[in-house]
Amino acid sequence: MTTALAAATDALLGTYRRPPMELVRGAGVELFDADGKAYLDFVAGIAVNALGYGDAGLEQAMRTAFEDGLVHVSNLYRTSAGEQLSLKLTESSFADRVFFCNSGAEANEGAFKMARRWGRTQSPAKHEIIALRGAFHGRLFGTLAATDRPQYRMPFRPLAAGISIAERDLGELEGVLNPETVAAVIVEPVQGEGGVRVLDPEFLRGLRALTSERNVLLILDEIQCGYGRTGTFWAYEHTGITPDLLTVAKPMAGGLPMGAVLMTQAVADAMQPGDHGTTFGGGPFVAGVALHVFERLHDPALLGHVRENGAWLGNALRAVAERSIKIRAVRGIGYLWGVDVTDAAKDVVARALDLGLLTCSAGEHTVRLLPPLVMQRADLERGVRLLEQAIG
Ligand SMILES: Cc1ncc(COP(=O)(O)O)c(C=O)c1O
Repeated sequence: MTTALAAATDALLGTYRRPPMELVRGAGVELFDADGKAYLDFVAGIAVNALGYGDAGLEQAMRTAFEDGLVHVSNLYRTSAGEQLSLKLTESSFADRVFFCNSGAEANEGAFKMARRWGRTQSPAKHEIIALRGAFHGRLFGTLAATDRPQYRMPFRPLAAGISIAERDLGELEGVLNPETVAAVIVEPVQGEGGVRVLDPEFLRGLRALTSERNVLLILDEIQCGYGRTGTFWAYEHTGITPDLLTVAKPMAGGLPMGAVLMTQAVADAMQPGDHGTTFGGGPFVAGVALHVFERLHDPALLGHVRENGAWLGNALRAVAERSIKIRAVRGIGYLWGVDVTDAAKDVVARALDLGLLTCSAGEHTVRLLPPLVMQRADLERGVRLLEQAIG
């Protein structure tokens, strides 16, 4: 279809409210609709398209990954790309073992199972998973119970048992972390969907100390904030701690669906053949593309660019906030920012779209900015100008 799609011309389930324009093309850091209108992209497919659109290296990686004719063979057989990628991920992190899957929620579901499997090796009742106030870990049954959004949860009760939400407060967590029953705590180092809240490194260090002391696993959900978005490859590098498990997904394979659970050997030792599985996870095509994406995003020059321009973006947004009575707060790090607005965030997002800027919301009053990591200063500047106009 080449003209703008009317809402009733498709058969899709209505789980998303989409604007009427149809996106037909992407180039660099811009998307184009069927009428030829350009949109500067501060969403990047929700933190997925780190390399923007039409990237020549990504295109070549896709061609190369297809050369051997293997897109998929299942996890019943060995293939090289996934094995190579697992080594890159362990060499660049705290982890000893990797499990590949296909999305963020699936990575977290896997991490919950691994935590429980490990817990049961420690003591018979050790199974509970604790998530934090403001968390978003996905919308499948286990992850929904760890996602602190009443409107997402309420219609689907009863949610998975043994998963609960605690305050982001070490005092409260001290009371909650019973070593006999709690297997793991899951935390986003930067809460994305929950309003772009960069957790205090001091809090994360305290949580690491507390979980270690209570023999509880620490799972970091870096699905939105990992893989370079904060200006370090892993977000936990800002804090000086390491987790027992870490989940990653969105940008891993350049827009192809891929997720992973990274873990220590102690956790891996609890998992036996048959304990978990997936038909597609880590297949040769997706993992081949992901190898290219890893090299590009792990590049110190790219990470330096994100740190430097991300700091500039934060300052530019704070300067806008000083000029505008319609902004309450600005929070973020690297290429992940939230702007609290007095208007409904969805109205600001709609006005920005009219002006040719894509943004998204993170809660009722937070506009979230997630530009492709390759975006240069001039386009960041242009985006901030358009955003200021949209906020009014
Ligand atoms: C921190 C975090 N965890 C988990 C998820 C779920 O990922 P997916 O949508 O790929 O299932 C998201 C998605 O936005 C996320 O931001």
